[in-house]
Amino acid sequence: MSDLSGKRIVLGVTGGVAAYKAAELTRLLVKAGATVDIALTEAGAHFVGAATFQALSGRPVWSSLWDDQGRGMAHIDLSRGADAVLVAPATADFLSRLAHGMANDLLTTLCLARDCPLLVAPAMNRQMWHQPATQRNLRQLAADGVAVLGPASGEQACGEVGDGRMLEAGELLDALVAFLQPKRLAGKRVLLTAGPTFEALDPVRGLTNSSSGKMGFALARAFAEAGAAVTVVAGPVGLPTPMGVSRLDVVSALQMREAVLAALPGADVFVGVAAVADYRPAVVAAQKIKKGAQQRTLELIANPDILAEVAAGADAPFCVGFAAESERLAEYAEAKRRSKNLPLLVGNLVQHGLGGDRNEVVLFDARGAHPLPAGEKLMVARAIVTHITEMLICTA
Ligand code: PMT
Repeated sequence: MSDLSGKRIVLGVTGGVAAYKAAELTRLLVKAGATVDIALTEAGAHFVGAATFQALSGRPVWSSLWDDQGRGMAHIDLSRGADAVLVAPATADFLSRLAHGMANDLLTTLCLARDCPLLVAPAMNRQMWHQPATQRNLRQLAADGVAVLGPASGEQACGEVGDGRMLEAGELLDALVAFLQPKRLAGKRVLLTAGPTFEALDPVRGLTNSSSGKMGFALARAFAEAGAAVTVVAGPVGLPTPMGVSRLDVVSALQMREAVLAALPGADVFVGVAAVADYRPAVVAAQKIKKGAQQRTLELIANPDILAEVAAGADAPFCVGFAAESERLAEYAEAKRRSKNLPLLVGNLVQHGLGGDRNEVVLFDARGAHPLPAGEKLMVARAIVTHITEMLICTA
């Protein structure tokens, strides 16, 4: 099932250079399963023509209050039954008219007449963005319940550098998908670990594993989508941080432990997704170890078990462990759950979960084993979050 299957989105496009990103956004929304109705302003059509949006959405494009395409009242009908109206790009002029409740073209009128959530993705020159008038309008829109996505900072079409760039199409898609998820964990704080750790041997080499961090980051995103305040303590991975998630980068298991213990106070849920190295070299050579001897012996010492330590704390949050096994998943996973005294443990086989984009997991709790359908890690993560949410509700 796609992220937006069965959803109908009205995409408003106003007159900014970033309108070209709205074309890509239309493609992504359709690919994610949404039905997309485009409301294109006259200025927007100067940047990207209606034919482009019609081809990408596969539906008629709406431009004028006076051309209802035989539909009756487009400004009313378009938002009825829609799951959201997203305006991207939203120019300073559009935001101003919206903030003042004006209804002088199709898009402002349908926004005023809507009965579904409204999201805007501002796009403008940095000076326009920082003007008190624009900021005043944005405060008003936020107070009116409009969700403001971005903007980003960076190089602008005019050649200047600063705030006001519209978010990229993929970021807007993610933000919209997150916005539409039920917010069952609003007010909860979640702390996760993700990725591998790297245990240095010398300034060049170290012991690590092939965890990519994808499962942990997918869970961080799924928790954020559910409305939680999320912090992820990440080992060395090259993944972008999910929107709205706080990230603390670490390298070794000892650093991961320190970061977790510092971020722990106030957490309602702790999830150990990281593949933490069980051992580290007893001695870290100050200089690169030179080739020479035919045999070398490596002395290892045990790393602290972060999850076990958190779970044993006096004021422990709801703790969830992961176990990656290469065989006898149920036996080893349930044994880990019991030994660390966890209410829930997520078991996966390394051949299913390590490194790739998909996973297949079994949840182990006091009621037994609950296999989840295999799928993309984000889908699996959402199902895990649903299970955790149900358990939290039951223990509340
Ligand atoms: O990162 P990906 O490529 O997406 O792969 C995801 C994954 C396979 C790494 C993930 O789904 C997973 O299974 N993570 C747990 C890996 C593992 O086998 O951990 P473990 O059995 O060594 O530890 C059990 C639990 O204790 C884990 O929650 C772990 O985070 C925690 N632990 C372990 C050792 C330690 N020193 N400190 C810990 O907190």
